[in-house]
Amino acid sequence: MCGIIGYTGKGDAPGIMLDALELLEYRGYDSAGIALLNEGKTQIVKCAGRVKDLRTLCAEGKPVGHCGIGHTRWATHGGVCDENAHPHRFGNVTLIHNGIIENYRELIDKYHLEGQLASETDSEVVAAVLQHFYQGDPYSAIRRTVLKLKGTFALAIMFDDQPDQIFAVRNVSPIVAAVTGDGAILSSDVAAIVPFTSDYFVMPEFHVVCLKPDGVEMFDLSGDKAEIEWQKVDWDVSRSGKAGYPFYMEKEIMEQPEVIRETILPRIKDGMPDFSEEGIPDHMLADCKRICVIACGTAMHAGLVGKSLIQAMIGIHVDVVMASEFMYNDPVVDKNTLVIAISQSGETIDTLEALKFARKCGSPSISIVNVKGASIARASEHVIYTCAGPEIAVASTKAYTTQLAVLYLITARMAMARGIWQEQQTRAYINELLRVPEVLERVLSTKEEIHRLADAVLNAHDVFMIGRGLDYSILLEGSLKLKEVSYIHSEAYASGELKHGTIALITEDTPVIAVVTQEKLKSKELSNIREVQSRGARVVLLIKESETLDEGEQWSCVYRLPKMDDPFMVMPASVVLQLIAYYVSLDKGLDVDKPRNLAKVVTVE
Ligand code: F6R
Repeated sequence: MCGIIGYTGKGDAPGIMLDALELLEYRGYDSAGIALLNEGKTQIVKCAGRVKDLRTLCAEGKPVGHCGIGHTRWATHGGVCDENAHPHRFGNVTLIHNGIIENYRELIDKYHLEGQLASETDSEVVAAVLQHFYQGDPYSAIRRTVLKLKGTFALAIMFDDQPDQIFAVRNVSPIVAAVTGDGAILSSDVAAIVPFTSDYFVMPEFHVVCLKPDGVEMFDLSGDKAEIEWQKVDWDVSRSGKAGYPFYMEKEIMEQPEVIRETILPRIKDGMPDFSEEGIPDHMLADCKRICVIACGTAMHAGLVGKSLIQAMIGIHVDVVMASEFMYNDPVVDKNTLVIAISQSGETIDTLEALKFARKCGSPSISIVNVKGASIARASEHVIYTCAGPEIAVASTKAYTTQLAVLYLITARMAMARGIWQEQQTRAYINELLRVPEVLERVLSTKEEIHRLADAVLNAHDVFMIGRGLDYSILLEGSLKLKEVSYIHSEAYASGELKHGTIALITEDTPVIAVVTQEKLKSKELSNIREVQSRGARVVLLIKESETLDEGEQWSCVYRLPKMDDPFMVMPASVVLQLIAYYVSLDKGLDVDKPRNLAKVVTVE
């Protein structure tokens, strides 16, 4: 959460930072601000609101300079107002912060800061402590301050008397840095660096980086120079931007066939699943007695699909645990438990902490991550990268389906490694997986039809989504999508469970979306649909094109899904639900890509 940018060099720092903040806005959009260090003076422009509001302010105030730091905020401590926007300044120190300083109240007392602070934030307290220790040596002040902090932080700092220099230090919250053609840059995300260079490095925790116009230096906390480990961005830069779509969410939905291909093809050798590039040994998949998937939100919903796939094919027990709850349920993980952590950003702190705990318990681990070099990828034994490319819309779409694609591959490789499937079965499964992109292309070509389906829920207050088994897992994700981008209250409900209480909420004003894709569940699901229809609900039905429906039934809203083998029907059904959510949000005139109260990368617990 919170986007961070810092630039020093020959370029126009305000322009560079404002453009970067627009790219980083998905991390938080409660407020935005920049600070420029120029001839020993620091100028701050900041406001509650979006980066576009900051741009307007900057156009009026015309800040100038070649060295600056900028921030987009997702509020944690203190409300959304101009004062709480970053950068914060105390004495000669100006900083931006991502994370949470847990002991900020104690620091206020210890350094007698009560009454001296301009904001309610924990971040300004760090600026004050830095100022307390600063006697001309930034490294010493940073070192002494960091030792006093409890919590998570990514800090970019400028000192009035250190011209053209930006210092950074972090614990947990990420910072990446790079050298550009005319200076140096740091950010919370690779996305802001990609326009300048494809070479970057991830700052190690508790190291101090100094950005200068002619390069970057790094030191450990004892003051010794540290080696920088450079890496290459392998995102296709041409994928940046909206490519003519009104919102990133639509563009990212449309990209799914392509990014799924990119995710699976390198991991299929001679028609068989292959993780040799990732170095995942077969015994890791063959020996585990159970699996524990840890993830949050959409990634957790991908995990639930993975659970159905693995339990059905392999017959071992799979738990899917919300990472935010993991630590509070006395987790039982050990060397026989394969932990699979799933995360688009690779920075979700709950997932990261749960993974670290599981590793301490001796669990072997694989992570499925989209962002190269992210913390979760580095904290796990093996990583399988999804190739979704940058996902900018806050609501996750292509990351989800690429996570699913990896889970199909893991299922197949595991079945092979355990001798459950022979070559022929594995090939047949992989062949079906290879059909997914083309099937999704078919679904996407009917987006106008799906747009018309969305009308059925457009004006609803409450929506129910019902199905069983794998269909229920699909709907959990579909319902989350609708909630987050349309603000309609939507509940995915296991359809057999409805009559145990919740059916009391079904009326003619409650549209119901039902998904029926699993042969073995069809008759029971259709009975449950009739139960809600009998109570007046209008039903939008997603069902395989090959199914016949009783002519006598009232099916006003039916979408025919292209037929795949049952385990793969998740893919086309999910894309239809993503598009329904998208069109409802669009037709309501909402900011589809930046739903209220949300942020793309959740780095606070
Ligand atoms: C919803 C969404 C979130 C994320 C969740 C985990 O559309 O994007 O629910 O899935 O915050 O994020 P990652 O995958 O980055 O760990």
